[in-house]
Amino acid sequence: MTDKPTPRAAHQFYSIPIAEAHKETADAIVLRLAIPDELRELFTWQPGQHLTFRRRLTNETGNAEEIRRSYSICSAPSEKDPSVLIKRIPGGRFSEPAQALQAGDVLEVMPPSGHFVLHPEEGRHYVGLAAGSGITPIMGMLQAVLEQTTSSHFSLIYGNATTDSILFLEKLADLKDRYPQRLSILHTISREPVDIPVLSGRIDGEKVRRLYQAEFSHTRPEGYYLCGPGSMIDDLSAALQALGVPEDRIHHEQFLSEGQEITPQQKTVHQDAGVTVTVDGVTHRFDIKKGEEKTLLEAAQAAGVELPYSCTAGVCATCRCKLKEGQVDLINNYCLEPWELEQGYILSCQAVPRSEKITLSYDE
Ligand code: FES
Repeated sequence: MTDKPTPRAAHQFYSIPIAEAHKETADAIVLRLAIPDELRELFTWQPGQHLTFRRRLTNETGNAEEIRRSYSICSAPSEKDPSVLIKRIPGGRFSEPAQALQAGDVLEVMPPSGHFVLHPEEGRHYVGLAAGSGITPIMGMLQAVLEQTTSSHFSLIYGNATTDSILFLEKLADLKDRYPQRLSILHTISREPVDIPVLSGRIDGEKVRRLYQAEFSHTRPEGYYLCGPGSMIDDLSAALQALGVPEDRIHHEQFLSEGQEITPQQKTVHQDAGVTVTVDGVTHRFDIKKGEEKTLLEAAQAAGVELPYSCTAGVCATCRCKLKEGQVDLINNYCLEPWELEQGYILSCQAVPRSEKITLSYDE
């Protein structure tokens, strides 16, 4: 059941043409979108946010299927339109065909979302720690710090397997030339010989300890922004906290990886529940029955209620919403920070009802 007519929708898909496409490396393409003027406000982004893309296709068994992927915005705030970098994953059903996209092609895109954001302030020091394509949200953040402040400093520690695989190598060098006093960059390389020991190998807790003592302990950075695989994030977060960095200064976004799927047992519903959900100002109601093996997101889909999502694995936060009433179990959470959980935010793709009545809002 659905109340009220649909107003402007921040959680719907829009057809957006590509303004420019260029290969960043052999395995990665950067797409700049041409946002129509009437959608410009809806597509305003904060540094670090991502766009969710949808592709509809017919699978091998002849059935219609929809795939969604989220990619971080790498543009500077001064750029009018958002750009994303899409790295090819071998066999990736979105990322492989995306490598052939060209200017003029049209994509289905949801407006920016995500809470891994940096709001630059004057006189601060920020640190970004990124591995591989984890550089994309950090690119948006560091350019925001450099463009929107005159006195803040950004330190980037960027890990790659080889020098050929470094993304935005030229752009980072240009930025370093333009802001020599306010941007510092360290590249670590794991699969090629490197003369300086601290720059050889993956970014790990030991490297962070050494860099912290040499570079950061006296400036007490305002925030550490980590983006890479889950194991890296766990290692670096633990190392930073052991060095005395408060948890609320450590922010992270991790890659989707294997082993994050949930089992039918984990999502077995233990009681009947009535769910009310508000998204884009429209309120929907549906029920979940005891014994069903469905998350709140899946139950909504089964009831024909369209809710925002992308990874369905607790990683991207596209399905983040506020629990206004009732209780849920959250199966996995790889993205919400402690303050968000305290304020009642949940991930509908990972939530199973634990009370008779559940009220959710995507609009807060
Ligand atoms: S859809 Fe990505 S966290 Fe739920």
